[in-house]
Amino acid sequence: LRIELSQTQVDKAGYKHFMAKEIAQQPSVLGDALAHYLPEDGLNLPADLDFTGVERLTLVACGTAHYACAVAKYWFEALAGLPCEIDVASEFRYRAPPLSERGWAVFVSQSGETADTLAALRHVKGQVARTLAVVNVPTSSIAREADLALPILAGVEVGVASTKAFTCQLLVLAALALKAGRDRGRLDDAAYAAHLETLQALPGLVNQALALAPEIEALAAEVARAQDVLFLGRGPLYPLALEGALKLKEISYIHAEGYASGELKHGPIALIDRDVPVVVLAPHDRLFDKTVSNMQEVMARQGKVLLVSDGPGLRAAGAGTWASLRLPEVAEPFAPIVHAIPVQLLAYYTAIAKGTDVDQPRNLAKSVTVE
Ligand code: G6P
Repeated sequence: LRIELSQTQVDKAGYKHFMAKEIAQQPSVLGDALAHYLPEDGLNLPADLDFTGVERLTLVACGTAHYACAVAKYWFEALAGLPCEIDVASEFRYRAPPLSERGWAVFVSQSGETADTLAALRHVKGQVARTLAVVNVPTSSIAREADLALPILAGVEVGVASTKAFTCQLLVLAALALKAGRDRGRLDDAAYAAHLETLQALPGLVNQALALAPEIEALAAEVARAQDVLFLGRGPLYPLALEGALKLKEISYIHAEGYASGELKHGPIALIDRDVPVVVLAPHDRLFDKTVSNMQEVMARQGKVLLVSDGPGLRAAGAGTWASLRLPEVAEPFAPIVHAIPVQLLAYYTAIAKGTDVDQPRNLAKSVTVE
């Protein structure tokens, strides 16, 4: 396979690393994906993509793409009442999942070449009504072998740690969840219009989140001294906690774990002491109070909380945190797309502080074509 890349696609455009460039590109590539999938207050998806009779959705991927699926599960359930199953490709294939002939399966992959994801796609063929690929490389194997390929339009991603592909995957999955909600009569006109408006605002909101970079860089100097870091989130922010921990592990080599906030008391709270930074992802949504009470459990044990929220959330949370980051307000359930930015920047600046190779972390490959 030969991939031709033009110089403009592969240079760092003045950034120190591809990862920094790709993080910064998100308002623009999300804008491209919006222009394609959500033009002028509507949805642009193939006309025959009708979720009405779909019995179950199965979403399969690896790594960061899997966490995009994990966020999307909340969306498909909440917006469309669609039973939704997710798994990592390497497990999915070997556990004999019962599939429905009236189900659809979605394979999410930046490269479109990940061996486990491709094998999972081949495995479900003939067992489900339809296979969809959500990919960044439209000529990839996964794109070609699925019944329908939806490009995420993120542009070439070079940094091994996936950033702009993640948020663009989320955007395409959000568009699919809205389509499913409409087809299945679960979203009335007002709710549908409100969700479209939230998604349309994303490039601006992401831009505001990017402006936190200097604050995050200052915090990262401290995070870089930690041996372990915890990330907590609830609802669709729970997979973001997992993604935050993955990003940090991948490029700074600091041990990090993501947990559902409510699970803290079932084990991980034993790890908390004054040396463990705990990143709490908590937009001011209907789950906010619950997450704040989990955060207080951490603070009562001298844990160093970095609270990532919005204006109303930071006011309601009160004092006692180690640090906080103020994101713009994002209507439910799409906050994860904006929360991805501080999580990526924290990993990036922590890796810089540690002096690791940000774009080519040890032992990792951009595209894993072996099982
Ligand atoms: C590798 C990369 C990850 C990526 C995963 C899935 O492990 O290092 O960043 O999330 O593969 O890749 P894909 O191309 O299928 O999204």
